[in-house]
Order: sequence, then C-alpha cells, then structure tokens
Amino acid sequence: MSKNALIMGIETSCDETAAAIIQDDSSGIPKILSNIVSSQFDVHKKFGGVVPDLAARAHVEKIDLIVKKALMKSKKSLNDIDAVAATAGPGLIVCLSVGLNFAKALSLSLNKPFIGVNHLEGHALSPKLQTKLDYPYLLLLISGGHSQFLCVNGLGNYKRLGTTIDDALGEAFDKAAKLLGIEFPGGPKIEILAKKGNPNKFKLPMPIINKGGCNFSFAGLKTAVLKISSTIKTEQEKYDLAASFQNTIERILYKKTQVAFNEYLKINNNYSKNFVVAGGVAANKNIRKKIEEISNENKFNVFFPSLDLCGDNAAMIAMVGLEKFKSKNFDSHDLEARPRWQLDENAKFLKGAGVKI
Ligand SMILES: Nc1ncnc2c1ncn2[C@@H]1O[C@H](COP(=O)(O)OP(=O)(O)OP(=O)(O)O)[C@@H](O)[C@H]1O
Ligand SMILES: [Mg+2]
Repeated sequence: MSKNALIMGIETSCDETAAAIIQDDSSGIPKILSNIVSSQFDVHKKFGGVVPDLAARAHVEKIDLIVKKALMKSKKSLNDIDAVAATAGPGLIVCLSVGLNFAKALSLSLNKPFIGVNHLEGHALSPKLQTKLDYPYLLLLISGGHSQFLCVNGLGNYKRLGTTIDDALGEAFDKAAKLLGIEFPGGPKIEILAKKGNPNKFKLPMPIINKGGCNFSFAGLKTAVLKISSTIKTEQEKYDLAASFQNTIERILYKKTQVAFNEYLKINNNYSKNFVVAGGVAANKNIRKKIEEISNENKFNVFFPSLDLCGDNAAMIAMVGLEKFKSKNFDSHDLEARPRWQLDENAKFLKGAGVKI
C-alpha cells in the first residue's frame, strides 16, 4: 500500500461518464491527481432529456477510455491504486450497473478493495477536496434530482431537516428552460439569459414560503413560468422571465436557509456553524451570492465546491471512497446497484398529493 492512500473513483449514475484518482495528503485535504468527466449532452439533446438506454450504451462505449485517461493524467499506474470506489446509487439502474461492474472487475483483477458509494454522499463531501471540514455540518444539496437540507453528522450519518415535496431545484431550472425554448440541459443557460433581464419584471409564486419548515416546493413556480411564457413576444421578455425565475429561487433559498440554520442549531446549539452548499445548482453565481448573504448575517461559514466539483464528477466519489477506505468500510463484490438511496434512510417520503409537511 502506498503511504498516502490512492483511490480511484468511477461515476456513471446518469449522463456523465467520469473517473478520477485522488491521493490522501498529510494536510488533511486530499490531492486530486485527475478528474475526467465526459458528458453525453449530444446523445440526449434531440430528446430534450436523458434517455436511459442510450445513456447506458454511451457509458459502456466510454468507460474504458475515461478510466485510462484518468490514470494517464494522474501519472500513476493501476498497481498503485489502493481501492476502487464507484457510485452504487441513486440513479438510473442501467447506468449505475456499468460503472459498478467495471469497478468490481477492476478491484478483483487488482486484488484491491471495492467500495460502493452513494452519489449524494459524494456531493455532500465534495468540499472536503478543497477545504478541511469536520463533522457535523449543515448541508444544502441542490441538484438535478434532490433539494434537501441535511445535518451531516458523519460518514453515512445524516439527518434530513427539509426536502422538496415536488420538483428538485435543478429539475425546476431545466423545465423552466424548456418552456423558454432553451435546449437541454437548460439550467445553466437560464443563468446566462438572466444577466440580460429585469429580475423584478414578473411576479412568480413562492410556494410554502411561510410554512412547512425548511421543506421546498417548486412545482407552482414552473406552472407560473408556463403561463407567462405563452404570452411572451420579445427576446427581452424572455430574458426578464429568466431573471425573474432565478430571482424568485434566490428569495426562496434565502428564506428557507434561515429556517434551516435555526433548525440545525436547535438540534445542538454548540454545533459548528459550517454550511456546505453542493450539487449542480450550487454553480449558479447569483444563488451563491444570496446564500453568502444569509450565511454572513447568521455568522455561518459557507463552503461551495469549485464549479468543476458542483456537477457530477468522480473526484467526489473517490473522496467518499477515501473516507470509507480509511475506516476499512469495504463492500463485497455482490453489492447491487440501488436506484433509490436516500442519505437519511429514516426520513419520511414527502412527495405527492395530500402530503403533510
Ligand atoms: N448555473 C446553473 N444554474 C442553475 N442550475 C444549474 C446550473 N448548472 C447546473 N445546473 C443544474 O444542475 C443539475 C445537474 O446537477 P447534478 O449533476 O448535481 O444533478 P444530478 O446528478 O442529475 O442529480 P442528483 O445529484 O440529484 O442525482 C441540472 O438540473 C442543471 O440544470
Ligand atoms: Mg449529481
């Protein structure tokens, strides 16, 4: 075993084929030796969303090459690797299986431990690749499939404080983008269009803003965008709607983050005031600014992963792999993919009509 553990991470839960090599470091912040991500935008663009079978086929075609590239960039050889970690869920089962089986086969052939990783835990720990951060901390996960506040008590130990009762925030961005005629994946493009628009032009709803604790609801917002978008005649109005949409999200996050801070400190008033915001939507600069504002007002230290670590990547999977490796938390080669896998497995299912929040 090398002095500082060397971990390979593999990620194929949705439409990114990714591989990374990270190495433990005496500074307490692991070094990212390589972090290769291959996105499948072109495969899915004409369908307006991810097509599972096409995604899986693209993973099969690419995984070999991406892992080779990650190895070459890291300047390490396969025999230097101490463990192979791969996303085991949540995600599309046909996609998860590709990376998981590849990682199992590699670990068997190298006779090195295999570690199955929860993709969401990867997002949760992603800032640890850049900052020293002790447990516990508060997490806001805003991604394509999730919008949750969680208390991160330790590795594999989460308490959910709030979640979305309908759409995830990334999903809301993508759906709003589609309504504005923006090509998939539209979320990041809303941020670009919003720069040219008036954020106060359209008044959009903020569902459950004054109730439901730090739970979210974004479906009403999408319906409002649908109605307004059908009346839009000029490009400027399109920019104004993008800006108004983004501004409404910022206000919702500002308010709900205040509630989450209070709930987190209610669990234990002595908890560290460290706050991580992770997932694809955390790349949005206006959202970052607004969250920084509320964090400063409450004297919370806020940590955002760098932009390349916000969206799906394998360095974050290797990060979880490294922590599991250090505690000898290995998995058997029988481990199955888990399409559904909540971070807080005791949290109630909070979606659908009639749900009580
Ligand atoms: N700058 C941005 N502004 C708003 N949304 C963004 C931005 N960049 C990315 N997103 C959104 O982030 C989402 C992708 O994030 P991520 O890759 O973390 O999600 P996912 O892996 O599909 O979902 P999950 O992690 O919940 O399984 C997409 O919905 C995308 O539109
Ligand atoms: Mg993700």
